[in-house]
Amino acid sequence: MFRTRVTGSTLRSFSTSAARQHKVVVLGANGGIGQPLSLLLKLNKNVTDLGLYDLRGAPGVAADVSHIPTNSTVAGYSPDNNGIAEALKGAKLVLIPAGVPRKPGMTRDDLFNTNASIVRDLAKAVGEHAPDAFVGVIANPVNSTVPIVAEVLKSKGKYDPKKLFGVTTLDVIRAERFVSQLEHTNPTKEYFPVVGGHSGVTIVPLVSQSDHPDIAGEARDKLVHRIQFGGDEVVKAKDGAGSATLSMAQAAARFADSLLRGVNGEKDVVEPTFVDSPLFKGEGIDFFSTKVTLGPNGVEEIHPIGKVNEYEEKLIEAAKADLKKNIEKGVNFVKQNP
Ligand code: NAD
Ligand code: LMR
Repeated sequence: MFRTRVTGSTLRSFSTSAARQHKVVVLGANGGIGQPLSLLLKLNKNVTDLGLYDLRGAPGVAADVSHIPTNSTVAGYSPDNNGIAEALKGAKLVLIPAGVPRKPGMTRDDLFNTNASIVRDLAKAVGEHAPDAFVGVIANPVNSTVPIVAEVLKSKGKYDPKKLFGVTTLDVIRAERFVSQLEHTNPTKEYFPVVGGHSGVTIVPLVSQSDHPDIAGEARDKLVHRIQFGGDEVVKAKDGAGSATLSMAQAAARFADSLLRGVNGEKDVVEPTFVDSPLFKGEGIDFFSTKVTLGPNGVEEIHPIGKVNEYEEKLIEAAKADLKKNIEKGVNFVKQNP
């Protein structure tokens, strides 16, 4: 009996059209987030090429995940020989977890001095070598690093507001998980929108729009506080060894998967994400996270916050005050340090 040997490349020609060739690049691929994120992206059937870049170690991460028998190529790059240009060439989506993480006692804003210039320089490289790519910013403080990327791309005439995203998915997966622990439900079935930004009080969980709108009083306050400060829980438990990496990798992989499904033309793909948003521009807040429908061009529709109660209105007001400052700080940084 004859057996036909089906190779990886033959499989690809059957299962993916040219329009669905998606190169995803991770900048900071050797880090605590970068490594598990690279693994999860290698397992995603919508990712056909994986480019892994870091100041050090990315070729090793690439060699390692490249042995996994899924239908994608993997290559690792270092700064030698302008590796970042090669890494970014042909990218559909660039994810940026490059930057330092928090230690106990620090706020995300305390990372600004180090991470602002890292993100600025990587954004310059994206503007030069992958000007059409979608960009997902993970490096903290997200409320400021996203405006930094926007300003850099604007300065190069390459800014497309539909293509830039702050990855706030971790707040959503925490909300889903924490409410399920409280209510003894299946976390995979939970729906729990979180809006605003990604730090402390700028994270606004909308209990009233979740599957459990009746959670009230102290239980609600504790749940909201746990979602807003979930990052601190991990920073404290890691005791100086960094912040969330594994849950963040899962969150970024979910975001990347949603984005690529939207790009592929799948309908009704919705994720909350921090984008250039019209919602509070009148108040000087150019970026805000609400539910966003993702499509072939990236942002297809920015949803309004929707109906909220008085308690949530107060949370939103507090978030807006901090967000405005965080965004201005990012914008001013690029103006003063182009
Ligand atoms: P890490 O220190 O483990 O990894 C960071 C990696 O970035 C390192 O491998 C480092 O070599 C690399 N890097 C630094 N500068 C670089 C540059 N110029 N070019 C390429 N690579 C560079 O840190 P981590 O735990 O992976 O966290 C990374 C960032 O993500 C931190 O800023 C952290 O606060 C943030 N974070 C964000 C979220 C979120 O929800 N958005 C969640 C968790 C962590
Ligand atoms: C998180 O929410 O876990 C991240 O933003 C990392 C941090 O500093 O808490």
